[in-house]
Amino acid sequence: MNKKYFVWTSGCQMNVHDSEKIAGIFTETGHHKAEGSDDADVIVLNTCSIREKAEQKFYSEIGRLKKLKKHNPGLKIAVAGCIAQQKGETLFKRFPYVDFVFGPNNIDNMQKWIDGNNVNTALEDNPDYHTKILPVRREGQVRAWVSIMYGCDNFCSYCVVPYTRGRERSRASTDILSEVESLAEEGFKEVILLGQNVNSYGNKSSEDIDFPGLLQKIHDINGIQRVRFVTSHPRDISGRLIRAMKDQPKVCEHVHLPVQSGSSKILGLMNRRYTYKEYKEKIDILRKTIPEIAITTDIIVGFPGEKEEDFQCTINALSEIDYDGIFAFKYSKRPDTKALELPDHIDERTKSDRLSKVLELQEGITYKKNKRLEGNILEILVEGESETDPERLTGRTRSNKIVNFHGDKKDIGELLKVRILEAKQHSLYGEKV
Ligand code: 5AD
Ligand code: SF4
Repeated sequence: MNKKYFVWTSGCQMNVHDSEKIAGIFTETGHHKAEGSDDADVIVLNTCSIREKAEQKFYSEIGRLKKLKKHNPGLKIAVAGCIAQQKGETLFKRFPYVDFVFGPNNIDNMQKWIDGNNVNTALEDNPDYHTKILPVRREGQVRAWVSIMYGCDNFCSYCVVPYTRGRERSRASTDILSEVESLAEEGFKEVILLGQNVNSYGNKSSEDIDFPGLLQKIHDINGIQRVRFVTSHPRDISGRLIRAMKDQPKVCEHVHLPVQSGSSKILGLMNRRYTYKEYKEKIDILRKTIPEIAITTDIIVGFPGEKEEDFQCTINALSEIDYDGIFAFKYSKRPDTKALELPDHIDERTKSDRLSKVLELQEGITYKKNKRLEGNILEILVEGESETDPERLTGRTRSNKIVNFHGDKKDIGELLKVRILEAKQHSLYGEKV
């Protein structure tokens, strides 16, 4: 068999990594990667349902595939990811040319479909999914995503993830460590530990290990030079974790800590289980302990009940905390979530207006922070050629800022010192020293 597969991916890093697992299964079953959907024999759309916009992206992609299937009736099409889990079999009605629908906790069950068994869905609860060792076909050769846990138990009132990715489950530390050891042997230099809420790693497992404990063990693996993790819930950032970050030199000075809103009233409605004051206290401890730490966040504007004064709290929070970068979104209604039932939904125009204000404010802050780095000499891990300019290489600082510079291809995978010459809005330009 010499069939070609194509995986289309939308959404978070979790999904990007899931697509590497999907590609891993295809590779193990003798498939080759197609250039694009047009020359594939089998296509998987790995979807995201976090906001309506992500859903729209999927609808336009699947619409395109209808024509492909008409020209090539042998083409096999699967829908995976969060939309697959949420919409399930209803997808067959709307898109009769879809052959298989499988959820994020059923990637291992894709095999049955590839093997030609007569199955069209894999959506059931798969309670042992976190114990399965799946093949992974990674995109890069320098940094690797590693899942440490699946699912989420937080039930933030706006969020669909607990419904699509199910209950929180941690992988066994021995499985994680042997994966990282193999990565080190293969020459990977950086690992990014992945989970919806990495700080609660191990809370529900029978093993006597927590996230700082896991971090220590990964840190001690020879060959791995940098360790990162996403995402952290502010409520679970502990003193023990902050100390672990400080004491372990390979753990990079960056934390993504979604605040969502600067208004404690809105945080309550969001079921975030912290106040802005408590959040700010954690930021203060982080900065006091690790002065060079970069902090990024997620913001939602226009959550139901967000009055002008609540929005102003978010604006004040951005000025006060001085984030290195943010991801900001308009609140989007999601099926099954509690926020749907809240009163006082905000009109689209107000949401757009608030989003523009947040983005404009943060642009200035990010640029100011980047500008301060001009003239500094920083360590970067070189990841590969720059996407925008093949003449340049690209890497990241420990604080996760992208640096482009002129270098040699043999520098890829190396830790180098670069002098920052010029700050741009979303990246830095530097020279090797
Ligand atoms: N509407 C808008 N943004 C959302 N996010 C999650 N759910 C929604 C929603 N319904 C954002 C949060 C989260 C990030 C991954 O996506 O900010 O941290
Ligand atoms: Fe990731 Fe959430 Fe989107 Fe699912 S819905 S792909 S978990 S961002």
